[in-house]
Amino acid sequence: MVILDGKGTSDQIKLEIRDEVNKMKLKGERVPHLAAVLVGNDGASLTYVGSKVRSCDYVGFKSSLIQFNNDISEKKLLNEIKKLNHNPILDGYIVQLPLPKHINEQKILLAIDPKKDVDGFHPENFGRMALQLNSYIPATPFGIIQLLDRYKVPTSGKHCVVVGRSHIVGKPISILMSQKRPAGNATVTLAHSRTENLVAITRQADIIIMALGIPEYLKADMVKNDVTVIDVGITRVPDKNNSKGYSIKGDVAYDEVSKKASFITPVPGGVGPMTIAMLLKNTLLARQWN
Ligand code: GUN
Repeated sequence: MVILDGKGTSDQIKLEIRDEVNKMKLKGERVPHLAAVLVGNDGASLTYVGSKVRSCDYVGFKSSLIQFNNDISEKKLLNEIKKLNHNPILDGYIVQLPLPKHINEQKILLAIDPKKDVDGFHPENFGRMALQLNSYIPATPFGIIQLLDRYKVPTSGKHCVVVGRSHIVGKPISILMSQKRPAGNATVTLAHSRTENLVAITRQADIIIMALGIPEYLKADMVKNDVTVIDVGITRVPDKNNSKGYSIKGDVAYDEVSKKASFITPVPGGVGPMTIAMLLKNTLLARQWN
């Protein structure tokens, strides 16, 4: 069994990006600049955004954290988005999700200039990704295909079962895995909450990508021997034995499933760190493309 080390791989990718930034500096070029918009003070979102900003410092990017109170109006937020679109020294930015209930998420994502949409959530980027044109691939699916590619996990002709149909992970990774590309050419099944007899489907899978958000949902009796398992879940569950009061659980019962797997991602240290590395990669692309 091989553990797909997302932490180590993301460190390697960050070093590659830092090298690129150093070359830019030597040539006297402006370094990439990423901004993150955070509305409210959700604990998990604060942690993720903090980590994104720290990673920018590490690779030599400029970064800006733009914070608003939970009660900012949709109109005011749209106005701030407009300002970011027109800021010539900003290469890319993200609006951290989820947003408060009174703000229409789709409306905000549609307002982001696709050229600065380094999350790849705008319909123009999603469409370009689906058609294999140059685009920003959403960071989590981008991280998954990088991990599969760098570890040379066989995917061509394999049956890949994706569990979860979110716009951010399940939907895009199901498209990417089916495409003619490295870490692609798979036969893909996209399963979700309405899927009947999921176990019969996961038992047929050569590759399972779990993006459901239910801790330890995938058990050993749901997979065949030598399966490859990618765990996108990162749920905080109360844990009295942890100083933070919670621990992070993936969608996979790791201890039992890993015994049957040929390749598997751990949680934490799997897909999570890859997501941040690929956001940085998209920001570097934004600096190079625009
Ligand atoms: N919330 C959870 N994942 C993401 C992500 O990849 N980007 C943004 N903007 N918000 C998120």
